[in-house]
Amino acid sequence: MSLREKLTNNRFFKSLYREGYPDSDRKRVMVIINSLALHLHPVRVPKKAIRVTYTWGLGGLSIWMFVILTITGVFLMFYYIPSVRDAWWSIISLDHDVYFGQFMRNMHRWAAHTMVIMVFLHMTRVFYTGSYKPPREFNWVLGVVLLTVTFLLSFTGYLLPWDQLAYWAITVGTNMGGATPIIGDQVRVALLGGYQIGQPTLIRWYTLHVIFLPLAMIVLVSTHFWRVRKDGNISVPVYPAPQEEETPAKAGASGAAGAGDDEEPADEGDEEPAEEKKTEADA
Ligand code: HEM
Repeated sequence: MSLREKLTNNRFFKSLYREGYPDSDRKRVMVIINSLALHLHPVRVPKKAIRVTYTWGLGGLSIWMFVILTITGVFLMFYYIPSVRDAWWSIISLDHDVYFGQFMRNMHRWAAHTMVIMVFLHMTRVFYTGSYKPPREFNWVLGVVLLTVTFLLSFTGYLLPWDQLAYWAITVGTNMGGATPIIGDQVRVALLGGYQIGQPTLIRWYTLHVIFLPLAMIVLVSTHFWRVRKDGNISVPVYPAPQEEETPAKAGASGAAGAGDDEEPADEGDEEPAEEKKTEADA
């Protein structure tokens, strides 16, 4: 009995992995379907669509930044005091008195900057590859909302240290809100929690930053991922030019915007070897 059989052919392994060692296509499919985490992923994806140079993993990097922000943010919440008197000092104390406090704060800050950049680059990639076209228009619109929520998370976080930067940023932000046609005054009062910047403003923006916006992000991102699956998984790259790789009949059915995505994914192994094509053409 080989070492692999010894490790996988026992009750303990089979209690975790019901199908046994995934050494056939069927078993590999069952592993994905039976796993809580993996079943979110499609069972089969076109090889071309998972090429790193197609998506650059930018959507995945965006969600990783959000995960890092959530973990470091919870850590910061143990020390941060959302009061106009204590907010600044709680941040100074976090930087100087708490083990790894400054490290956590910097991780949170850098991840926030990086997330904005990643989301923006992800959007640029989606535009560049034409992946916003039907049937993915809804996910593009959802993406625009996600971009807005990402900006709002950054902006509300910026206020929390309650320093001069924060004070004047919120002054500018709420004045911009106040310039909204017709309901400008109401918007400004809603953002400030009154007629001037003070404790009600801080508590409002703190609640938005740590509860409301992260929850909205989780709901929207889940819907975004669900739509990626429903729209036939991620779009298939059009390059290299279809005629170089496929017969004319097949070439008409593929495209970045998703036409033909519902078809069986093109497995590169299924394609005719170049040598055979050449022989046919010669004949
Ligand atoms: C919090 C922000 C976001 C996260 C976490 C996120 C995550 C993802 C992930 C993981 C994918 C799978 C493919 C890939 O990684 O490129 C994806 C696809 C997609 N995203 Fe996003 N995204 C975000 C924001 C946006 C924005 C701002 C837009 C556009 C306005 C957008 C539009 C799309 C579209 C249309 C697809 C399908 C792309 C295709 O089929 O090739 N997303 N997103």
